Amino acid sequence: MACTFPIERETAVWPPSAPLRELLLDADPDERRIAGHLAHGELYVAKNCGTAAGVIVIRQTGKHTWEIMNCSVAPEYRRQRCGTALVRHALNIIRNKGGRYAEVGTSDASPGPMALYESCGFQVYGVINNHFTDNYPEPVWDNGVQCIDMIRMRADLSLRKEGAHHAAQKA
Ligand SMILES: CC(C)(COP(=O)(O)OP(=O)(O)OC[C@H]1O[C@@H](n2cnc3c(N)ncnc32)[C@H](O)[C@@H]1OP(=O)(O)O)[C@@H](O)C(=O)NCCC(=O)NCCS
Repeated sequence: MACTFPIERETAVWPPSAPLRELLLDADPDERRIAGHLAHGELYVAKNCGTAAGVIVIRQTGKHTWEIMNCSVAPEYRRQRCGTALVRHALNIIRNKGGRYAEVGTSDASPGPMALYESCGFQVYGVINNHFTDNYPEPVWDNGVQCIDMIRMRADLSLRKEGAHHAAQKA
């Protein structure tokens, strides 16, 4: 049976509780960067029986634009739609705030996050070459593959409800 993962907003400053810290660092190893996003953004936590299963952080980056700054699901809850629930929740929050665009930057090392965002209505609009080598003091790895470039993705929330694209693909 599929899990439902209720999602709630939580206030957090760096360092948050150990489980949240671990989740946030799994998606971004830079503590200072995460601390900035928590200070200026909004943190939402997906729970399973009271345990943090996943997190998402969004932050306004322009008049009509919000960005997903961090999205992470604990290994034991992956491929159970927790990430999808978090991204859809974030898109609904952004839409309800009057935001038109949702953006996210993901690494070129793994197809998993890109597939997740594409299934939620995001499309690639650019690449920042050498983002991970230029902006992190240590090499960043994703499942043994070094992250080099950042893939930029955007969803236009005025075009359709997120999820419609995925539903259409599955139909
Ligand atoms: C990326 C991440 C958030 C996905 O969370 P998740 O809960 O497993 O995602 P979902 O179950 O909602 O997956 C939805 C779809 O995304 C795609 N997807 C997710 N993980 C994938 C993977 N490892 N490989 C290939 N496709 C993947 C699939 O199309 C999947 O649908 P399917 O299971 O029906 O095939 C999770 O793997 C994670 O936390 N990774 C480490 C941190 C990270 O890289 N965060 C992203 C930073 S931008």
